[in-house]
Amino acid sequence: MTSYPTPPIAQPNLPLIGALPSILKDLAGFIDHNLTTHGDIYTISLVGQKLIFLNHPRHVEHVKIKAKEIYHTGKGSPLTSLLFPDGILTNDGERWRERRAPLQPYFNPSYLQPKLSSIKSAIQRSFGFLEDAAANNSSFDLKTITSYLSMRVLIETIFGVEAQPEEMAQVKSALDFVVTHTINFIAHDSIPAWVPMSSRLQSKQAMHTFRNVAAKLFARQQESDGEADSLFSTLKNMSRTEQKYEEDRLISQILELLLAGYETTSSTIFWVIVFMISHDEVLQKVNSEIADIVGIEPPNQEDLKKMPYLRMVLSEVLRLIPTAYLFWLRCMKDDTIDGYQISEGSRVVFSAYHIHRHPQFWDDPELFLPERFAANNRSKISKSAFIPFGLGARKCLGNQFALMEIQLAIILIFQRFRLEFAPGYGIPKIKLGISLRPEKEVMLNIKRR
Ligand code: HEM
Repeated sequence: MTSYPTPPIAQPNLPLIGALPSILKDLAGFIDHNLTTHGDIYTISLVGQKLIFLNHPRHVEHVKIKAKEIYHTGKGSPLTSLLFPDGILTNDGERWRERRAPLQPYFNPSYLQPKLSSIKSAIQRSFGFLEDAAANNSSFDLKTITSYLSMRVLIETIFGVEAQPEEMAQVKSALDFVVTHTINFIAHDSIPAWVPMSSRLQSKQAMHTFRNVAAKLFARQQESDGEADSLFSTLKNMSRTEQKYEEDRLISQILELLLAGYETTSSTIFWVIVFMISHDEVLQKVNSEIADIVGIEPPNQEDLKKMPYLRMVLSEVLRLIPTAYLFWLRCMKDDTIDGYQISEGSRVVFSAYHIHRHPQFWDDPELFLPERFAANNRSKISKSAFIPFGLGARKCLGNQFALMEIQLAIILIFQRFRLEFAPGYGIPKIKLGISLRPEKEVMLNIKRR
């Protein structure tokens, strides 16, 4: 039998903890250093586990499409043990299908189109803070605004009831905890449950906070005369087993959707605004498209289809900043990739941030060039080299919803306001953590048009 070498070990690699300190200190530097040293495939040793890092679009196609039976997404997820042992993100095979299929219709364009006006109204109701800042000539923190906007849209879409400010603040803090500490969840997998760890306790507290808010929203949802055929009622039915209705499962399913949809969408809106206001020509073109196609009335579904330039800008932002950039899989059967052994049980990781900058697939990858996505250039883009929403059967469930929300938010904001960086602020550096975040806050000045 042929034996294959294992992918080279990434450095630095300390006893027991492996690359953990380097990853926590400077993940981008660590990945870049090892890509330069080892090329597109190497092994990261991390707290007793081995992660195989892949960096070529053909690897992506292999693990997500050609050999998808061998590489399981749910079992690779670092969220398994604590949060969603039985959700869409963390299951595979039949159980995954059972959880995804009933939700799919709620994210299809035919269901979303009639929701356009309620999404618009949720976005507009997030403008109070912007109106105040414009009236008082004061600056505002962009991330806070985009976070609340996307949180409101998501909560109101799922529950069908209006979200109160303190509820959004609590859900936001619980989700922020989960996103910031996912790296600890990998460590949890290697450390027995009886070992006291503050991050385990804090995760329980975050879940407790979320549970309380969810209970209030449930109660209001029950009182309201909500639609019988809603996303919430479907989630509720999915949580009903033969014996009983399992509230824990319902909560976990809702939290899962919020986790998948909140930070991703709010960050993308954040970065679209930042890139627009830092590129004059792009800003002018988007503004002209809004003026020509939509005018001063709120946009409708047909308008969104007639705005190719805005879509190009959005694609280019998602290329440079694919907010859910890390993909985790578990290899379920010995395999080989590029002549290297991938052993059963190993975790496999790839990064859309790096795939979207692969020099063989992108010219001047660091430059912001929306024209890359113009209709006459699209055929040059390989399907597995542009993966902001993933690919294959597990492609993002909410991608149409997110694209609709982001376009609506951008149109509604720029129809009404002029934005520019406050003095001393500009396009921030990106920090690679478990998600892609700006290294520092961005304050903007705002004027009413
Ligand atoms: C700009 C916004 C968003 C981005 C960039 C994004 C990106 C992604 C990515 C990269 C994946 C993994 C796909 C794969 O493994 O191939 C994913 C999965 C998923 N996303 Fe999104 N997402 C966004 C918004 C949303 C929204 C708004 C929702 C729902 C409310 C959502 C729900 C999900 C779910 C449920 C999955 C798991 C799908 C599965 O495993 O079958 N996402 N998303």
